[in-house]
Amino acid sequence: MRHLIVPSVDTQHWLEVLKTNNWLVSGLGVVTIETGEKGLPLAEHAPQEDDPIWLGLTHALMAREVNKIKHWSDLLDRELYQQFEQYWPRSYEMVGDVLIVRLEEEVKQHQDLIAEAMLERISSARIICADNGVTGKFRVRDISPILSRDGNISTLTKIRENGHNIIIDPAKAYFSSRLSTEREGNVVAAKQLANLLDRPITISDPYAGVGPALPSLIATEGLVEAIFAGDLNPDAVELLRYNLKSQVNKANYDFDNQAFCMDARKWRSDKNLTGSTDLLLVNLPHDTIEHLTDLFPLMCKGTMSLIRGWAIVERQNLDGVRELIEQKLIQHGAREISLTCKEIKGFSASKIFIRIESWQIFP
Ligand SMILES: C[S@@+](CC[C@H](N)C(=O)[O-])C[C@H]1O[C@@H](n2cnc3c(N)ncnc32)[C@H](O)[C@@H]1O
Repeated sequence: MRHLIVPSVDTQHWLEVLKTNNWLVSGLGVVTIETGEKGLPLAEHAPQEDDPIWLGLTHALMAREVNKIKHWSDLLDRELYQQFEQYWPRSYEMVGDVLIVRLEEEVKQHQDLIAEAMLERISSARIICADNGVTGKFRVRDISPILSRDGNISTLTKIRENGHNIIIDPAKAYFSSRLSTEREGNVVAAKQLANLLDRPITISDPYAGVGPALPSLIATEGLVEAIFAGDLNPDAVELLRYNLKSQVNKANYDFDNQAFCMDARKWRSDKNLTGSTDLLLVNLPHDTIEHLTDLFPLMCKGTMSLIRGWAIVERQNLDGVRELIEQKLIQHGAREISLTCKEIKGFSASKIFIRIESWQIFP
């Protein structure tokens, strides 16, 4: 069985990451290896070793007494199981207590049996939903509830990320735990900027979704002067407002905070937002680069500012993308530009997911 190998002191942190994502094989426990490091048993569907989520930690194969663990599919009638052997789902995703599973056409007729077996075996699941893909400009998942443990078919749920609770609804607003390490990177970069400016900073997150980037920033005392967050999806903004309010209530310092249901490209027409922002987050991967010029007017003038954005681009064109962004910055009079475009994971055969990080002073 595959194990994640972590330094002993980091065991609790990684156990939390694995449990949140349902990547931990329950009932097996942690093993101590010869080096003193710990081995955490990984579920089959956990990301592969080269995924950036592991921050370079290694995986190791170790024999465990897996026979004691019963898989949900063991509960299916044997004859039925064998009839459709190759079509039963091999993986699923946990979003809080919502289990989302993609069903092949051949076994859709048996979705109730699948859901019953999953509820029986997977104690962290409250509701089982079929995954019908991602739809529309808000990148919301089309999921249909099959069966719930308590009759409640709401997909509203809570996840814990980097030590913070976030309320999400995968059927109403985009959320992905895959970018949690990037969100931690935001905090590191924000601290660097605040140190450089020697003051708390104003952060804008106009494509905030339900706001997963905000809790870690807010929880860093003395970092935040103001938070402006928004999304175009009204359902996302409802959850964003809830999450923001609970983070504000928890913080023991005061700061301005506002959430808008607005097209990010229109923020520039609000005079309270133009020239307001020290740190801008741009998370609209298919359109980030196109939207950038409409967002530049939000940046503070005359002082160092930082843009962190994420984009999906052609692998072959990474240098071209960097040059294009630099040109846009220069056209807007930015100086002292320090711009990096770094691959953080593959997206498809020809495309990659990148982080754009740009430090500059706008005029
Ligand atoms: C990839 S998601 C990122 C959400 C969030 N930052 C996160 O990491 O979970 C992009 C978000 O942008 C929103 N969106 C799409 N077009 C927009 C626009 N023109 N202005 C503001 N938000 C937009 C979508 O509704 C979605 O919630």
